Amino acid sequence: MSYQFPDGFVWGTSTSAHQVEGNNTQSDYWLMEHVEPTIFADLSGDACDQYHRYEDDLALLEQLGFNAYRFSVEWARIEPEPGHFSQAALDHYRRVLEACHRHGLQPVVTYHHFTSPRWVAAAGGWENMETAARFGEYAKRVTHDLGDLIGWVCTINELNITALIDEFKGTMIPAEAIDAMLAAAARASGSDRFSALLLGDSAAIEPVVIAGHHAAMQAIKSVRTDLPVGMTVAMSDYQALPGGEAMMQAKREKIQDVYLREAGDGDFIGVQCYSRSRYGPEGMLPPEEGVEVTQMGYEFWPECVGACIRDAVELTGLPALITENGIGTDDDTRRTEYLRRALASLKECLDDGLDVRGYCQWSLLDNFEWMLGYRPTFGIVAVDRATQVRTPKPSAAWLGEVARSNTADLG
Ligand code: BGC
Repeated sequence: MSYQFPDGFVWGTSTSAHQVEGNNTQSDYWLMEHVEPTIFADLSGDACDQYHRYEDDLALLEQLGFNAYRFSVEWARIEPEPGHFSQAALDHYRRVLEACHRHGLQPVVTYHHFTSPRWVAAAGGWENMETAARFGEYAKRVTHDLGDLIGWVCTINELNITALIDEFKGTMIPAEAIDAMLAAAARASGSDRFSALLLGDSAAIEPVVIAGHHAAMQAIKSVRTDLPVGMTVAMSDYQALPGGEAMMQAKREKIQDVYLREAGDGDFIGVQCYSRSRYGPEGMLPPEEGVEVTQMGYEFWPECVGACIRDAVELTGLPALITENGIGTDDDTRRTEYLRRALASLKECLDDGLDVRGYCQWSLLDNFEWMLGYRPTFGIVAVDRATQVRTPKPSAAWLGEVARSNTADLG
């Protein structure tokens, strides 16, 4: 039976500047990719060249049936040196926003998606409390120049990401390799304080990203009070095995809930989730033997969407917008199945009366998956990186049709 979503439901796909634009040369991540040694499997390079091809990508989204696009504006392009704002970069994003409107897409704009200008990283990055105020000033300028065209603002993408990565440090990438790369980046930037989000000291980063979120919120509202602004949090469906309850609660509090408790001054909560996290008394457990895992090594668990909406709404009391959810897989039939089950769990939340405003899938394009390079493929659209030709996958037609009709057959 076909399910009808609420009127005005937001249907989008998500990307971030560094992962799709290409040549983000003034950013800390570009620097880390290029130092010796590096932990990056690939260079981001031209990425998907969306910096030049945005018009085609937006036209494709419209054609597929979507009504929104979530993307980020790049601080390293907009403020490449402290206090020096590039009008040309702001004008570029104005053209992108105008194109969104031409193509019937509400712009959901993230002001910071992992990458910072090199000068921010060299000054201690998000471990330095001054970064919070700097980010507030940048947010004010972006809103002043672009706010009239923006639909929704996400302040800092997954401000809890470093705390989450800490859970995996040492297992995915050896800590010594990370330290060696950070030391090389510090040398290259002539600094002994170089720090980048994801890889820094999560205890030092926590108060700064929270302050940065509040500074941005205040700055944005001082320019445009009616612009919906929200925090986005990397969430997971936290589950405890018998005896693991206390451990799970403690981890969930530290990695996720501490941040969610700070989201209350926003207009919505951005829910981003991909899987579940199971805890026993000693800590996090790997996926059970035999269960389906994604290219990222975590469990195929689309029901995280419903669980995370419930947790987010309960903790914040805010309307929820799914700002990221998706799967890295080379089998697109599994992607469609993942999306279908994710939406089925979202529907249950709507049925229970929860205020869910929309769903933005990660990601429009196969793109630069950070340290893992171009191997994981999260896109509903494939990209031939030699020619930059885009090829929609069957999942793009499926989700686009859901978006166009605002209905879905959820099985
Ligand atoms: C991030 C994206 C990333 C995605 C898939 C999210 O945590 O916001 O930048 O590509 O997960 O791993």
